[in-house]
Amino acid sequence: MLNLSEFQQRRRQLIKNMGAGIAIIPTAPELIRNRDSHYPYRFDSYFYYLTGFKEPEALLVVIAGEENKSILFCRDKDVEREIWDGFRYGADAAKSKFGLDEAYSMHQLDVLLPKLLANQSKLFYSLGADAAWDARVMTWLNTVKREARTGITAPDEIVDVRKLLDEMRLYKSAAEIDIMRRSANIAASAHRRAMQKVRPDKMEYEIEAEFLHEFYRFGAQAPAYTSIVAGGANACTLHYNANNSVLKNGDLLLIDAGCELDGYASDITRTFPISGKFSAAQKEVYELVLAAQAAALAKVNTQNHWNAPHEAALAVLAQGFIDFGWLKGSLDGVLESGDYRQFYMHRTGHWLGLDVHDAGEYKDKAGNWRMLEEGMVLTVEPGCYIRPAENVPENFWNIGIRIEDDALVTAAGCDILTSDAPKTVADIESVMAQ
Ligand code: GLY
Ligand code: MN
Ligand code: MN
Repeated sequence: MLNLSEFQQRRRQLIKNMGAGIAIIPTAPELIRNRDSHYPYRFDSYFYYLTGFKEPEALLVVIAGEENKSILFCRDKDVEREIWDGFRYGADAAKSKFGLDEAYSMHQLDVLLPKLLANQSKLFYSLGADAAWDARVMTWLNTVKREARTGITAPDEIVDVRKLLDEMRLYKSAAEIDIMRRSANIAASAHRRAMQKVRPDKMEYEIEAEFLHEFYRFGAQAPAYTSIVAGGANACTLHYNANNSVLKNGDLLLIDAGCELDGYASDITRTFPISGKFSAAQKEVYELVLAAQAAALAKVNTQNHWNAPHEAALAVLAQGFIDFGWLKGSLDGVLESGDYRQFYMHRTGHWLGLDVHDAGEYKDKAGNWRMLEEGMVLTVEPGCYIRPAENVPENFWNIGIRIEDDALVTAAGCDILTSDAPKTVADIESVMAQ
């Protein structure tokens, strides 16, 4: 858990970025899975980023202008409910624990929000993110508008508050990087464990269970996304997560799995042979993807823009597809025509943070790829997916490989947070032999 002062600092920064106006930021709703069972609760990332408050049914108001303040609305303290559902702060304790200026019960929202909105020029709110909150916010605004004859005005401009927060979230603080490093270490150790536990004839879900075991054992609160545990041809389905097939001797196993620690995601993919030894064909493709990743990682530094790692990986992969004889023509021709998409159809990464596909623009206001800067964290994840096709020899069919690491941009270049997960052919085969 981050220091209280870090959350306060973020709210101060938001106030600065707002200039003047009022921001309304609700947390995520609880979701029913079936009948009266809920999905495990996960707070909204923007709300958490500003408060550190993990309870459901809460909302943050930030006011900027002549008066600057942060107000939390949260569930009431309720000794009776706490016997069933566990501890809840209640407004008074939350106010002091989370360093807010004021805190009130959620039951006060409809009374207090029209008052807080009155005479504010701008409303900062993520319109469209949640229909139920949209309706409530509009009701509050209309309540204020009905007061017009008394001289009270309602905000006449709604700005998406996420625009301001995305830019802040993109640059990770030292404390965030520390958590992300630990999240990455847990996920890396789970990949190592999977390499050691895999055997022909096990089921994919048995290996998924090894990940859950390792995530929870080291204190991660959840997988950061549904793990992909894809043996053989399943690896060629990019979002495969049924994880219910038998693992066959001679096939590869692609695993894309990361955990969430104190809100922060790790995101790692490793691909390794179920037998413990790569076949000649598997090794050839693996070395190509590994070379593409190395080329991409070499571009992760402050001299380059966001897309440079993707362009570098793509050039290596496309040249490889030509050298293997699968694609005809020149490198420029294959890049121009997009023929490489037969084997590589996704991009090479995304921002990483509180969300696995984290907040932050990829282009600047002029429409150019933004430069990489110190403190940004991104994934680097080239791959190659070979579905049966006439232009490829049969011994390559159904090979699916992706190699994904999490990289922090530093002054010196980049720091690979996930380097504990074995990656070279020699390292993988040696870990698997142990
Ligand atoms: N695991 C999600 C991704 O790699 O983007
Ligand atoms: Mn990813
Ligand atoms: Mn991934």
